[in-house]
Amino acid sequence: MTSILILNGPNLNLLGTRQPEVYGATTLADIEKMCTAWADAANCTVTFLQSNHEGALVDAIHAARGVQDGIILNAGAYTHTSIALMDALASVELPAIELHLSNVHARETFRHKSYIAKVAVGLICGFGPRGYTLALDAMKSYVED
Ligand code: DQA
Repeated sequence: MTSILILNGPNLNLLGTRQPEVYGATTLADIEKMCTAWADAANCTVTFLQSNHEGALVDAIHAARGVQDGIILNAGAYTHTSIALMDALASVELPAIELHLSNVHARETFRHKSYIAKVAVGLICGFGPRGYTLALDAMKSYVED
């Protein structure tokens, strides 16, 4: 059975109350429920994690090696800054999808740069919470094809 890690970075624990005009009213717990329901119906396993700490995200990526088949990463602001997360993904040699709720390319220019994209198989952004299940579908197909 395909196993997928969904990893969420800083400030995503505040979804629902954080800048709802940008990120909407759906909480991270709601998104986790959507992902679990999607995985149950698709007969795959999902592990859902969030951390505000760069090192904890690096540790979670390392721990995925040999356990998970792919990683979906919404690295939040670390997307635009973190060579450590990029190196971690490159080191574990698992397929990764970069995910964002918002369309980062329609926002400030500092959000246009991504270290994660350099080591990702693809990128999904701008579809809000639905992006998570779109990413699951994309990852499942990528792994099983
Ligand atoms: C985000 C986009 C990032 O630029 C931002 O720092 C976030 C959320 C998104 O999901 O749209 O924290 O990753």
